[in-house]
Amino acid sequence: MEKEMIIVLDFGGQYNQLIARRVRECNVYAEVHPYTLSLEKIKEMNPKGIILTGGPNSVYAEESPRYDKALFELGIPILGICYGSQLMAYTLGGEVKTAPVSEYGRTEVDVDDVSSPLFEHVDNKTVVWMSHTDYIANVPEGFEIIAHTPVCPIAAMANVEKKLYATQFHPEVTHSVQGQQMLRNFVYNVCGCSGAWKMDSFVETTIKEIREKVGSGKVLCALSGGVDSSVAAVLLSKAVGKQLTCVFVDHGLLRKNEGDEVEAVFGPNGNYDLNFIRVNAQNRFYVKLAGVTEPEEKRKIIGEEFIRVFEEEAKKIGAVDFLVQGTIYPDVIESGLGKSAVIKSHHNVGGLPDCVDFKEIIEPLRLLFKDEVRKAGLELGIPEYLVYRQPFPGPGLGVRIVGDITEDKVRIVQDADFIFREELAKAGVDKGLGQYFAALTNMRSVGVMGDFRTYDYAVALRAVNTSDFMTADCSEIPFEVLQRVMTRIINEVKGVNRVLYDLTSKPPGTIEFE
Ligand code: XMP
Repeated sequence: MEKEMIIVLDFGGQYNQLIARRVRECNVYAEVHPYTLSLEKIKEMNPKGIILTGGPNSVYAEESPRYDKALFELGIPILGICYGSQLMAYTLGGEVKTAPVSEYGRTEVDVDDVSSPLFEHVDNKTVVWMSHTDYIANVPEGFEIIAHTPVCPIAAMANVEKKLYATQFHPEVTHSVQGQQMLRNFVYNVCGCSGAWKMDSFVETTIKEIREKVGSGKVLCALSGGVDSSVAAVLLSKAVGKQLTCVFVDHGLLRKNEGDEVEAVFGPNGNYDLNFIRVNAQNRFYVKLAGVTEPEEKRKIIGEEFIRVFEEEAKKIGAVDFLVQGTIYPDVIESGLGKSAVIKSHHNVGGLPDCVDFKEIIEPLRLLFKDEVRKAGLELGIPEYLVYRQPFPGPGLGVRIVGDITEDKVRIVQDADFIFREELAKAGVDKGLGQYFAALTNMRSVGVMGDFRTYDYAVALRAVNTSDFMTADCSEIPFEVLQRVMTRIINEVKGVNRVLYDLTSKPPGTIEFE
């Protein structure tokens, strides 16, 4: 694959990852780096273009992040966005001021230079997303104003000769109606990119790289059946076939039929040429968890026990050279404000053993965003239902059973969850939801069934809309669907006499119950 890259220099804005994603949607590879990335390093990386992100600061504040003026003299095209645009203006001798009127939200912008390469196929008037208190009051020498709004005289500026562009607005957010076109224009018209970053080329190149790295070595992968580990496993399997062993640990806290579904795809009768080990470890988890009610302790026990099981399997296989992890790009991005990278030791199970004897870790997805992982999955022929799975936490139903865990409670929550998912799918409302499941509250209450008194558990249904899982709102499931789910759960799941729908948003709630 051609190494054509855009560097996104992060000045602490909320949308830094989004910018990289948008550029990648133009089939151009982009990486986010903190603004502290040295000039030398940038030269070495030889990007086709650089994008300076927004940020919460004012260029005049003493501790504001800045960059050496020499950045603008490298001859590399640069697009400054919001704070990035002000930084460009300030550094090159323009003037930045507190705007008399702050602009937040959707704003109509007038394009002054319709022939600007940045505005090709962009309307003369277009709606963009503004979010600023400072603005550029005077452009630096050599720059022209190419767009304005009623209260922002310099909504965009350009120095065409030096290939320097700046927008006060945020083209990367979807509220900027033609923002994606502008980013496309920047990477193609200004930076001269050819658009070689595509999933088929990613898959092909990665398989080649893995083969070179692994040689005839043995590879081990912890497979959870989730999207990331599944895609990582299939990539490895295509690259090294039977040199790969996947270990799938059924900890007894999976959704109904999940173990069999994973085995059907990856097991001996499945679609791939790999060694698959399914460890049915339900009992040892139940024994360890018996009587434990504190959520963090439950999580810790599940995580640790998972590691022990995995370790034992790894020892049986012996002399493993490489360990595969499904780390994805958001896990490795460094924060723009100088904090060090947070790299999860394992994205789904909270830490893999140090003492498993392997030489190196392979992280084939470390450059991909989640939606790109999904595209790679489809490219690799992984079934759609696996690729588009909703997230499932590593500790599984352990965090969906409030209080202590018993085999019977697992059965209740599995059956109730299955009915909920089945009815949402039948009603055709499942696709639009971020995450949805049933949880078992630890509450028992009195009911009446067939003239008899019951004293049984209450099941809670949860469905949320979310794009980032950091915040979430309760989904509006049609009432008749909820009623149908309630009737079926009460009739079909022994031990339940009450069904509740959880309305809580996040914050203050979390998505999972524990
Ligand atoms: P919360 O409950 O914190 O969940 O709002 C946010 C998202 O993270 C998932 N989640 C986990 N995923 N290991 C995981 O891999 C975990 O321990 C874990 N806990 C929560 C949760 O399903 C939701 O998507």
